[in-house]
Amino acid sequence: MFTSPCLSVNEENHLTIGGVDTLSLAKEYGTPLYVLDEDAVRRNCRLYVDSMNRFYDGHGLILFASKALCNTAMCKLVASENMGVDVVSGGELYTAYKAGVPMEKVYFHGNNKTEAELNMALSLGVGRFVVDNQSELLELDRLAKAAGKKASVLFRITPGIDAHTHDFIMTGKIDCKFGVILENGDAMEIIRLASTLENIEVVGVHCHIGSQIFDLEPFCEAASVMVNFLGDVKDTLGITLSELNLGGGFGICYTEKDDPVPYDQYMEAVSKVVKATAEKRNLPLPKILMEPGRSIVGDAGITLYTVGAIKNIPGVRSYLAVDGGMGDNPRYALYQAEYEFLVANRAGSAKDAVYTVAGKCCESGDLLGEHAPLQTANSGDILAVLSTGAYNYSMSSNYNRIPRPAMVMVSGGKTRIVVKRETYEDIIKNDCE
Ligand code: LLP
Repeated sequence: MFTSPCLSVNEENHLTIGGVDTLSLAKEYGTPLYVLDEDAVRRNCRLYVDSMNRFYDGHGLILFASKALCNTAMCKLVASENMGVDVVSGGELYTAYKAGVPMEKVYFHGNNKTEAELNMALSLGVGRFVVDNQSELLELDRLAKAAGKKASVLFRITPGIDAHTHDFIMTGKIDCKFGVILENGDAMEIIRLASTLENIEVVGVHCHIGSQIFDLEPFCEAASVMVNFLGDVKDTLGITLSELNLGGGFGICYTEKDDPVPYDQYMEAVSKVVKATAEKRNLPLPKILMEPGRSIVGDAGITLYTVGAIKNIPGVRSYLAVDGGMGDNPRYALYQAEYEFLVANRAGSAKDAVYTVAGKCCESGDLLGEHAPLQTANSGDILAVLSTGAYNYSMSSNYNRIPRPAMVMVSGGKTRIVVKRETYEDIIKNDCE
């Protein structure tokens, strides 16, 4: 019935998440409110960790791509599920560090890490730097030398794979701001250069072909290209690299049109390619890393809003306005990303109306969806937007000086606040006169 497995409808016809009534959540914590089902997140983590263990015989590690949802509670949660964390900025690194994530399981990404960020990562002792380009490599070598350390690195490689997803989130093509190109020899050259640097230890390679991808094919193709590249590195430079990080990107269900492949099918298909190609190229099986973000948290989260004005423009459309919008979920404005909507207080009733869901920002493009099927709504109803666990809170802003919502986690029928609602004082706290 729903795109998200953690949702149900109780005898009062209210939407529940993790067994908790969303109407009581809205009443207790206010709206807009991000709600995350902790048990569902843990189930997603275990699906990945178990299938990684099954298909790579314990020779791998799952990293949570924290850009999908970064806060202290999430970092603690994934660490307790024996996962590492992929961070992409000083802020994400600091969050993981303060949450107590073991630093050797932290992989530091980013196409333009600053000197301050590199120094911070060196002094905290992050496990791996995923180096994006030559200037970063030389800078890291210099800073590691000054710090009296050796940095362990993976290189982000652009494998030239065209995955079918939105242009803004497609990252494996050659014309891309991320990574070093494989086809023109840049990738081989950077590894050769790195092997001559005293304060760099070259450990492996990384690729990430995009996000919200449903086909198995591009993942298998990327795995084949990357393992063959490890073979070429061994043949050309005599260096056997021990780690292969295949990135994230697995699609989730936002609306009934989406049909994701179960992760273990993906893991099985890719592991076959990795193992067969390694054997063919006479390579030891590398340690495999994967970096799911969206598919760990996406379908475990919802956002609750209070319905305000409803404006019917005859012959055009009906606008339903909520007390949040692009500030807490910019994904429709950015990518025309589609969501499923429900009136939470009549969740089991038929969807007998169609609305364009508008936010409260001073901007016509501030929409959460257009022409969305929904139960007939009234001002004061609670609107639930489903599958908002990924890239909502993490991409939120204070546009129009609207405070960010709170986030609660539910588990075993209990709730706890994991991010407090911002106040107007928070909004002005860095202002100077
Ligand atoms: N690893 C790397 C290096 C990445 O760049 C990303 C996502 C991931 C892993 C995780 O990918 P996932 O499993 O979540 O698909 N803001 C966009 C998504 C941008 C993804 C950026 N990189 C959205 O809201 O759809």
